[in-house]
Amino acid sequence: MADPDWWRQAAVYQIYPRSFADSNGDGIGDLKGITARVPYLQRLGIDAVWLSPFYPSALADGGYDVDDYRDVDPRLGTLDDFDELSAALHAAGIKLVVDIVPNHSSNLHEWFREALASPKGSAARDRYIFRDGLGENGDEPPSDWDSLFGGSAWERVTEADGNPGQWYLHLFAKEQPDFNWDNPEVREDFLKTLRFWSDRGVDGFRIDVAHALAKHLPEELPSKLVLPREDDNALGAHPFWDRDEVHEIYAEWRTLFNEYEPPRTAVAEAWVHADRLSRYASPEGLGQAFNFDLLQADFDVDQFRAVITKNLAEAAATGASSTWVFSNHDVVRHATRYGLPAGGGRRGKGQDGSQWLLDGGHAADVDAETGLRRARAASLMMLALPGSAYLYQGEELGLQEVGEIPAAERQDPSFFRSAGEQIGRDGCRVPLPWTAEGPSFGFGPGGSHLPQPSWFADFAVTAQDGVAGSTLELYRAALALRAELQTAEELEWIATDDASVLHFARPNGWQVVTNFGTEPVALPAGDVAIASGPVEGGLLPADTTAWLVSAKA
Ligand code: GLC
Ligand code: CA
Repeated sequence: MADPDWWRQAAVYQIYPRSFADSNGDGIGDLKGITARVPYLQRLGIDAVWLSPFYPSALADGGYDVDDYRDVDPRLGTLDDFDELSAALHAAGIKLVVDIVPNHSSNLHEWFREALASPKGSAARDRYIFRDGLGENGDEPPSDWDSLFGGSAWERVTEADGNPGQWYLHLFAKEQPDFNWDNPEVREDFLKTLRFWSDRGVDGFRIDVAHALAKHLPEELPSKLVLPREDDNALGAHPFWDRDEVHEIYAEWRTLFNEYEPPRTAVAEAWVHADRLSRYASPEGLGQAFNFDLLQADFDVDQFRAVITKNLAEAAATGASSTWVFSNHDVVRHATRYGLPAGGGRRGKGQDGSQWLLDGGHAADVDAETGLRRARAASLMMLALPGSAYLYQGEELGLQEVGEIPAAERQDPSFFRSAGEQIGRDGCRVPLPWTAEGPSFGFGPGGSHLPQPSWFADFAVTAQDGVAGSTLELYRAALALRAELQTAEELEWIATDDASVLHFARPNGWQVVTNFGTEPVALPAGDVAIASGPVEGGLLPADTTAWLVSAKA
């Protein structure tokens, strides 16, 4: 019988389909490209793949603007290609998780087109959030709210008679109108979508912006100046972030998930106050939620220990398993982040506000060597933690963020909507280098939809395959050993003499030591099974992690 708990300590590998592998040379990664790389994924040793959106989309936001939730973008393939990919992954023992984007559709979704063609007050408009504008002619937005990608969160439409009319809410790009989750048709349609993919054999779902669906929008909308702060979300009092009612939606989804054998899994992307994250992860809800605290922490022993301790305690309290993540398609790759001046670089900006990626390119402002050394240490430590490890394509190559993308070739709406003030997320979405030579570094037989820098050659799969000490071999070895040693979701901290050392033990004599300091430290007794850097004479260098294995159970 299939193990219903497979997700609890899974290593999940995120694929951003357009940038993974291109089978037909049009410069866009596709499903057949992924299928052809299943042996690579199997050799890497991951348990599951999470596919970012592959649905029909005009790519106003890299596919997170979905035109049709129950189909495949023709540029990426067909539903048959999807079934083939799913079968190939399953045959390789790899589970498949897909991305669901329920907060908003694209503006090209048939429902939104219908809403635009229908009059004010119509049932078609009620599936979204339409409001009259303020001011005498309704030409001012219904509120002063900003979209997350910059500019107003409201866009005015042209009515069927050609006159300017109502406004609709879009928390993200204007091509991403927010759904009205009070509308039963919206709820029904998503249940249908979840069934559609579950019936097709999908094992689980990643829920995009899971904390925004439920909204409470009074007649008179509060000004952004009085909205609760976004980072604490005012514990349920915000008009659209993290409202309590959102959990009614997920309870309904959970019922559906549990009709399947094994139950379908779900993980919430919810940027909410730490104290409220566990609600998303509850067994009556989605079951798991991303914990972004580690991703947001500096490479610092005290921050890491505090985050891990807190997250494990929360998981224990809710019955969910912990999640860990350093990189994804929305943030600066951690090999680059850790090479920035202290604490800087999230979302592409230095802490001091400097536009390091825009102006300097990656070499000028980033200490890439330190960044990579620390990223390897952090990842090796993370792969030993109890719970699920979420990996982002390319991190197993130690890939750096790409800074040198000309403005004209950028794609991220946040770059354009903020007039370049937010550098955007294209730098972590550049197609992967598979070979050190050849067109698009082996991404495909043609070009690449985002420009790849020449230094990608050094990070190519072929440059690392079978090379002792390469980041790819480190990940392969760590994932293999993790599978072998995987055990109860328990962790015991071990006191150290040196304040810059993190030391913990898992059951079965599995010990993990990370040196966050600047000087080498003596390792405890035990056999070094694997290390992220050179261990000599029983000394663990700075910015390095080692796994020690004493007695295997
Ligand atoms: C999530 C996605 C991000 C997207 C946004 C809007 O944060 O991870 O890529 O832009 O939602 O859908
Ligand atoms: Ca293609």
